[in-house]
Amino acid sequence: MRTPTIIAATLAATCLLPACKKATDKATPSDGTGFSKTDYEIISATLNLPESALNYSGFNLPAHFLAPSVASTNNTPTNTNPITNDGATLGRVLFYDKALSINNTIACASCHKQANSFAEPIQFSKGFLNGLTERNSMSLANARYYTNGKFFWDERAVTLEDQTLMPIQHPVEMGLTLDSLEKKLSGKDYYKVLFKKAFGDDNITRDRVSKALAQFIRAMVSYQSKYDDALTALGHTPAPNEDLPGFTQQENQGLRVFTANCAGPCHNTELQTMPVARNNGLDLVYTDNGVGKITGRTIDNGKFKSPSLRNVMLTAPYMHDGRFQTIEQVLEHYSTGIKNHPNLDNRLKDPVTGVARPLNLTQQQKNAIIAFLNTLTDTKFTTDTKYSDPFK
Ligand code: HEC
Repeated sequence: MRTPTIIAATLAATCLLPACKKATDKATPSDGTGFSKTDYEIISATLNLPESALNYSGFNLPAHFLAPSVASTNNTPTNTNPITNDGATLGRVLFYDKALSINNTIACASCHKQANSFAEPIQFSKGFLNGLTERNSMSLANARYYTNGKFFWDERAVTLEDQTLMPIQHPVEMGLTLDSLEKKLSGKDYYKVLFKKAFGDDNITRDRVSKALAQFIRAMVSYQSKYDDALTALGHTPAPNEDLPGFTQQENQGLRVFTANCAGPCHNTELQTMPVARNNGLDLVYTDNGVGKITGRTIDNGKFKSPSLRNVMLTAPYMHDGRFQTIEQVLEHYSTGIKNHPNLDNRLKDPVTGVARPLNLTQQQKNAIIAFLNTLTDTKFTTDTKYSDPFK
């Protein structure tokens, strides 16, 4: 922890240089202070935005989000792209703008729906010419809490800033070149206002588009579920097998079964995030090798990232290829269906024989896990105006 602090301090000191604000695109001094009357009139012709930006940069996060186990998984590059209120507001407009696709038919939000925790409730999503994506759309809730900061099921985007420009250029998803993107957005008066507010001048660049989108996505923090309220009410990290206040008996049983079988080094921390991509024995031979397809290494075949399980009951279908329509099917996989793939994660193997170890859950245990997973649903997050469509 020491070295990053020193680096951060050095960078902060360097930022006293006048050139720095431009180089790093930090918040303007007027972050969140509101638009001039003329500017507000310009954006209001198209957008339904409040006069001053909503709060994206600071949340009253509960204590368990601030604990090192969770805080240390935050992948926000605070020196080069901190979340600002004006930056995330711009990101929100970009996220919902169909102008980011070549024929103005598809926005990021077409495949990432707020009501579904920014996943889409179908197996594969449709791009700008109705072509289908090769994988299932991923939930974006708490995307910022993934330590290695890599994105996509196969972790091919090394940062979120790299990720955000990929769907725009994707031949199935949005089909736009970055040159056309810059040209197209520069022709819109509301972007001149929003880029200036976020970055200090109205230069519309791919770099700023990527940063603003990443800020908006990192601001998507889901922290107001029943589970969060129960942890806050308890006031300390629950001891093993400790019941949570306000939970039903079944939800508490589910928490215990989940902790014993699913958390550990896999869906861990209070955010149920995985530290790295893993193979969970879906197939003996994969048609999509996930991380292995990217690295070319056999030992990575069948490894996939798992997004945070927050709001998981809203993000069906499940797995990288959306093969499971229901959470019951997912539990059946872990209960009886795990395949003995050579890269199967150790946690899903018998430590002695080294072969796949199905969890053999009883129906009662499965029901309890589902009851627990329901406590991870955060409808304040899925209905919060600040993540909603700002277009009139
Ligand atoms: C046509 C549907 C579609 C559109 C449009 C789309 N996405 Fe996605 N998104 C997906 C799919 C499918 C995946 C998973 C793809 C994969 O892993 O190969 C995904 C994955 C992601 C992820 C990775 C999440 C994680 O935890 O690793 C992020 C972030 C994301 N999209 C953001 C965006 C942004 C920003 C835009 C707009 C610029 C966008 N998406 C447009 C379908 C779409």
